[in-house]
Amino acid sequence: MIFWRVKSLDAILATAEKKSLQRTLGAWQLTLLGVGAIIGTGIFVLTAEAAQKAGPGMMLSFVIASFVCIVAALCYSELSSMVPVSGSAYTYSYAVLGELVAWLVGWALMLEYSVAASAVAVGWSGYFVGLLYNTLGIEIPFALANGPFAGGIINLPAVFVCILVVWLLVIGTRESAQFNAVLVAIKIAALTLFIALTIPVADIENFQPFLPLGEVGVVAAASSIFFAYVGFDAVSTAAEETKNPQRNVPIGLISSLGICTVFYLLISMGAIGAIGAQPVLDAAGKGLAPGSLALAEQCQSLVAAGQQPLVCSREALALVLREIGWEKIGNLLGLTAFLALPSVVLMMLFGQTRIFFVMSRDGLLPEVLSRIHPRFKTPHIVTYVTGLGVTIAAAFFPVGKLADISNSGTLFAFMVVAFAVMILRIKDKNRVRPFRAPGIWLVGPLAVMGCITLFMFLPTDAKLVFPIWSGIGLIFYFLYGYHKSHVARGIDITAGDEDTIGQVRPPVDRHHDNSPPKNKD
Ligand code: ALA
Repeated sequence: MIFWRVKSLDAILATAEKKSLQRTLGAWQLTLLGVGAIIGTGIFVLTAEAAQKAGPGMMLSFVIASFVCIVAALCYSELSSMVPVSGSAYTYSYAVLGELVAWLVGWALMLEYSVAASAVAVGWSGYFVGLLYNTLGIEIPFALANGPFAGGIINLPAVFVCILVVWLLVIGTRESAQFNAVLVAIKIAALTLFIALTIPVADIENFQPFLPLGEVGVVAAASSIFFAYVGFDAVSTAAEETKNPQRNVPIGLISSLGICTVFYLLISMGAIGAIGAQPVLDAAGKGLAPGSLALAEQCQSLVAAGQQPLVCSREALALVLREIGWEKIGNLLGLTAFLALPSVVLMMLFGQTRIFFVMSRDGLLPEVLSRIHPRFKTPHIVTYVTGLGVTIAAAFFPVGKLADISNSGTLFAFMVVAFAVMILRIKDKNRVRPFRAPGIWLVGPLAVMGCITLFMFLPTDAKLVFPIWSGIGLIFYFLYGYHKSHVARGIDITAGDEDTIGQVRPPVDRHHDNSPPKNKD
């Protein structure tokens, strides 16, 4: 019975012990890693989508989304302090809920990471196009910078950045911890400047009407803007490279999320106060769906008439600054997004390859995926396969739809993690918990309910993708993983039967090596 195909926590920990990755990251670097993965397309671009769904009430949407993430992060912290190994939610579920649930979580994480990479690439494209136009006067034809949902043909800049990132990953480029720190510093500086310039000119009138599309709009916007917070879980995937992970991983998770929450609230307040955030309505007074052709057309005519509504912008934060007279600083902010967003695409794609690795190490995915490039020592096949999917999605879909689809997978994974913490508290009471989520019987259920609620308020198409994707996953599992699973076949994962994963380097440079792997090729 697959629910009893559980990988024991002790076996998982023994595997981690065996690996040779150096433990070089401290709490501060982990926090920077988290902030680096969190701040991206969500705040730079999706602020416009959130405004289209909720109007100025999107401030409440940011609060709701951050609340769900904070309770989920407390659950992640407890598990990652107990099981400081790679694989994150997938690994925890394998230990607590068994192989089938773990498979579904791993499958959902593919949705999270791959589709998020596409979303961030599309977000980058908007800033790239805007920057070219506003600084150099170069205009990329609309049809070549937008997918069919936005009235174009293909989003070529997004395709370009995906190909670039795939190439970087294949040749083994990793962000160094220092490079990540520099990018985080640039992002924080740009966002601080944004807050400093917008809050003082905020006009209370711009907050009226506060809830033009009611409370439903606020929760719907929270479901989408949730994307802006995703990425803090990347901290837990670096557990095996962390010094004293029991202490530092929870600190990294919670502090990176806390920092971003404060920034996001101030930024949304500044953006609304400076230029307003009213949605574009149809003839019947209903908000047009973000990412729809109808909204794209309406926006084109508003822009042609000389208006610049926040909700129509593909580079929302830069637009706000330009509209309040800080043209050059708006361009500078655009430059920040242009420089920093590719690293978020890289982190997401990297996270994806790592999840694939852990799953193929467990025998649930074909071993060919974990083949290593003879020269670059990188998992090139899995990177190409993932990269192809990510590039196609980025070429044709709008950023909001991609973010919503990614959210559906992430919410499922977060919910399972919350369940896993509660089940472990009952099943394995005496295991050492270096970090205990406070008030777990409140925090756990709140995390589960929060995830379910946000999922229910996603647009219908995003909600449908998830069960269809899971169904495909189940078919694949019963045709392949069910039979090949190492746990089912009694392959001892602590005895050196595997270990392609040990060859994959983590998302930040651990100050070591391009040396070949120690284990078999
Ligand atoms: N939170 C990340 C972003 O907003 C995924 O780009």
